[in-house]
Amino acid sequence: MSSPRTKSARPRARRDLELEAGTSAHYEDPAYYTKTYRARLDDVRFYADYAAERGGPVLEYGCGNGRITLPIARLGVDVTGVDLSAEMLSDLRERLRAEPEDVRARVTVKRGDMRRARLGRRFPLVFCPFNAFLHLYTREDVERFLARVREHLAPRGEFVFDVSIPQPEELARDPARAYAAPRFNYPTLDGKGMPVRYTERFDYDPIRQVLFVAMEFSPVSGEEPWMTPLAHRQFYPRELEALLHYNGFELLDAWGDFDRSPPTRDSITLVLRTRARHR
Ligand SMILES: C[S@@+](CC[C@H](N)C(=O)[O-])C[C@H]1O[C@@H](n2cnc3c(N)ncnc32)[C@H](O)[C@@H]1O
Repeated sequence: MSSPRTKSARPRARRDLELEAGTSAHYEDPAYYTKTYRARLDDVRFYADYAAERGGPVLEYGCGNGRITLPIARLGVDVTGVDLSAEMLSDLRERLRAEPEDVRARVTVKRGDMRRARLGRRFPLVFCPFNAFLHLYTREDVERFLARVREHLAPRGEFVFDVSIPQPEELARDPARAYAAPRFNYPTLDGKGMPVRYTERFDYDPIRQVLFVAMEFSPVSGEEPWMTPLAHRQFYPRELEALLHYNGFELLDAWGDFDRSPPTRDSITLVLRTRARHR
């Protein structure tokens, strides 16, 4: 007699709660996210200019709360954003309400997992900006995602994305040590903000090649501290090139910065312009 376990046709994949938290927690507070990355503008300019040069419509995976989506739409290009985070998408919808009608009309938002979502249409440009790719932790994650990218690319369409290059000194950090950053005002609903001390811990798992970052916030007022986890898969450049190759993509350009300069040994970012082969 078979047990209820053996009756199931497909064994269910085991959930990894640590990775799930490291994929979602950092995006649960869009006001904090916006404040943290407000000075990060080079990538916004790069993707918006690229979309305007090449023409859309654009599919943006991991669009978040629209840091890059909105500037693309403001330049007159239609853009569809897909993201897993309900909080980020709800903030994006809120921001859209403040945009002029023509910009609003150019943006389509869909909640979904970039490894699975199917939109039933193709795009000349597919973007996956600012390390969203680093939330693909296993080979299967990468394979599923690249299969979705292929399905959504128009003939001769391009897939452009950027990732942080693994930094040996970051991966070698002692997980027991807290690295202090300047204290700052954490955004609050009443607009006054809450002064917090901020520290980060880095714990690299060299087997899974995942960097776990613990962001620790301690209110100066003595209120309860809290910690936000972030998990980033580390992809070495040649590993990425191989993954792209064996999933049917050709590399058109590899840049070491958003100014489209070549990568050097000091580069911390890799921007890749790719296309599906054999189309
Ligand atoms: C660093 S943020 C980038 C957001 C936005 N593109 C930007 O540049 O500000 C990464 C985004 O990827 C999203 N994300 C992570 N894993 C995802 C998945 N499997 N499917 C869709 N979105 C995902 C997160 O919710 C988050 O909004």
